[in-house]
Amino acid sequence: MSRVIFDNGTHRCIVFDDILNEGEVEIEDVQSNQFLIVNKDHGLLFDPGGAKVFQPLHKEISKFIYPRKVKKIVISHQDPDTGAGINYWMVFSNATAYVPQLWARFIPHFCRQSIEKNFFTSIPEEGMRLNLNDSEFILLPAHFLHSVGNIHMYDATSKILFSGDMGTSLLPFTADFEPVEDFEEHVKFMEGFHKRYIVSNKVCKLWVNMVRDLDIEMIIPQHGRKYFKGKEMVNRFIDWVYNLQCGIDLLNQNAYTIPPE
Ligand SMILES: [Fe+2]
Ligand SMILES: [Fe+2]
Repeated sequence: MSRVIFDNGTHRCIVFDDILNEGEVEIEDVQSNQFLIVNKDHGLLFDPGGAKVFQPLHKEISKFIYPRKVKKIVISHQDPDTGAGINYWMVFSNATAYVPQLWARFIPHFCRQSIEKNFFTSIPEEGMRLNLNDSEFILLPAHFLHSVGNIHMYDATSKILFSGDMGTSLLPFTADFEPVEDFEEHVKFMEGFHKRYIVSNKVCKLWVNMVRDLDIEMIIPQHGRKYFKGKEMVNRFIDWVYNLQCGIDLLNQNAYTIPPE
């Protein structure tokens, strides 16, 4: 289903949160959100998903924009759930795909060689700014959160931070797509993912110090049907990340022992 989460008349942000489970198909893949931003007559896709997502997503976005009018595709990191379907978008859009520099020579492995020329642009390690008509986006460095080469996207018009895997919650698929209301209750759905996938508290703090300088109204992650809306809830999430002990902070020798025979 599609959800319009921001609309000021010329700029719309749309989330697709259950593309793979629409209809009768039940899948076990991790639930993923895909994002479309439409500014006037042009579109931008953020983390458009894997190969099996392509066809239903292409159909869904057609309700908002002619897919050939998708001009930019941003892929936050190299994981298949973010952009393994990029091969199809090369054919069925007129977009440029922006990928983290570290993965610029890896992500094209998702594609057929004959058509990839001039399709990919590297996002420098320090991030960059991007325009869609008159609207501006900031591609922020988010390395090690979780991927070693990772970016997040801030939409300056809607003031939404699309935070990739940061903020992921693993809830039952029946959960509604809605803002988090009880933060403490929500932590238990985020904790396991962040402790294992996010690299360390040092990186969390660096990220927090950066995003505190942005004017953020919503943080929407790539996984989970819950997002952070309003300054108070956004700040609660950011404060939680600041203190998060995760990844290599929690490792000890027990994790590195030879499995018994
Ligand atoms: Fe990932
Ligand atoms: Fe992901």
